[in-house]
Amino acid sequence: SNEPPMVPYWIPFLGSAIRVGTDPIRFYQECQEKYGKFFTITLVGRKMVTCLGAEGNNFVFNARLADASAEEAYKGLTVPVFGTGVVYDVQNSVLMEQKRFVKAGLSQENLRAYVPMIIKETLEYFERWNEPKGTDDIHEAMAELVILTASRCLLGDDVRSQMDESFAKVYSDLDGGFAPINFIFEDLPLPANRRRDQAHVKMRNFFLSIMQQRRKNKRTDTHDIMQYLLDNCEYKNGRRLSDQEAAHILIALLLAGQHTSSTTSAWALIYLAQNPEIFDALREEQIRVLGSLDAEVTFDSLKQMPILDNVVRETLRLRPPIMTMIRKVLRDLPIPGTEYVIPQGAYIQAVPMISQRDDGYFKNADKFSPFRWEDYDKQQKERDDDVVDYGWGAIHTSSAKSPYLPFGAGRHRCIGESFAYVQIKTILATFVRMFDLRLHNNKFPEVDFTTLIVTPVKPLVDYTRRDQ
Ligand code: HEM
Repeated sequence: SNEPPMVPYWIPFLGSAIRVGTDPIRFYQECQEKYGKFFTITLVGRKMVTCLGAEGNNFVFNARLADASAEEAYKGLTVPVFGTGVVYDVQNSVLMEQKRFVKAGLSQENLRAYVPMIIKETLEYFERWNEPKGTDDIHEAMAELVILTASRCLLGDDVRSQMDESFAKVYSDLDGGFAPINFIFEDLPLPANRRRDQAHVKMRNFFLSIMQQRRKNKRTDTHDIMQYLLDNCEYKNGRRLSDQEAAHILIALLLAGQHTSSTTSAWALIYLAQNPEIFDALREEQIRVLGSLDAEVTFDSLKQMPILDNVVRETLRLRPPIMTMIRKVLRDLPIPGTEYVIPQGAYIQAVPMISQRDDGYFKNADKFSPFRWEDYDKQQKERDDDVVDYGWGAIHTSSAKSPYLPFGAGRHRCIGESFAYVQIKTILATFVRMFDLRLHNNKFPEVDFTTLIVTPVKPLVDYTRRDQ
């Protein structure tokens, strides 16, 4: 047959899972050298055709609906966590409408209102680092902070004010459903899955009760997505979005945004701790835009801070939280420009992390260098007309042919990018005013690739308060 070449493996069933879990960057780079951009690996009993480079990205992200399905790849993992009637539990056309609701809810006006909320949460959170100097786990801190900022912005102040330790427990049980094992085996009768199911019901009921309170009190003064979903959403066929669907969408958003944004914030601060001169550059940039470090950071001033923007872009280049994006192949699928045909039932995956680290696309690709984006933007503008200005500063490509796709492309592209950028940049802008950082014992953290979202392993940082 004409299937893309199979990478040999020694452990039946598991296949290349251990290499992928321990050192995927090296593994995929080596495979690319040997087999080219398209090759097949076995991953826990699955045939996974890996599609690399800009052409691989384009092949996966622009695959037609009849050819390749995200639902079929993701639903076993996501439906028990998010709930029914949303995202991968519905036809793609319904998901597209639901994504449009959320995108409209993340309007400029709402994003503008989020910035002071995120600043306030960040200042309050870091009151706990109250010694002149100390050492802490920056990933843990960012995970705790982002759940607070994201909840306040997306869910609202009434939800935020009712979030206590029992909420944290429900959240963490629900999150426990996002385990790689659930990606492979559907709904095993594990204790973690029972806790996940109970947590789903509790979280949904909590959101439903808040929605009912809001209807009773006729609240309309908020900028959160919950309110938007309550007020404004009607499918094209005239049916209104139900409260239960709204609650399930909110759960999906909270989980989609949590680890992605918290690991990105953590990695950004880890890179900054390794490159302390960029702390200074960020503070100088704020002084240039705002006049002083005492003036308030706003949504509009963030747009004038390209160094800050590029720190986030560069972090996402080297440490994209979502390492692979997967589809199930629904019918035999030829790969254009090759003689390969992918058999029905196999999976295809894009791994933009590899093109994002390719010297052919990015000079000195392994080096953290936010300033590279200044040139990249200029060149990109000249060679590609498919560039989009999302209105918050730098220009980001959305073309599926781009080597840089931390948010994916095509119909499943992320809708949380603008919110994620506002959230992460506001946290970083506030953080650099308060602290200087160094890596603890000068140790750059290891990476855990076995979690679904790529995480730093116990990243300890030494902080110094700047106001002491
Ligand atoms: C989709 C990354 C933050 C909501 C995606 C995809 C990627 C991604 C790679 C495409 C998945 C695929 O094609 O299989 C990220 C990163 C984030 C981030 C790197 C932060 C740094 C957020 C936030 C939200 C969100 C904050 C919600 C407010 C979504 C949704 C989808 C999506 C709804 C669509 C799924 C689909 O259509 O299949 N994201 N995301 N994301 N993301 Fe994000």
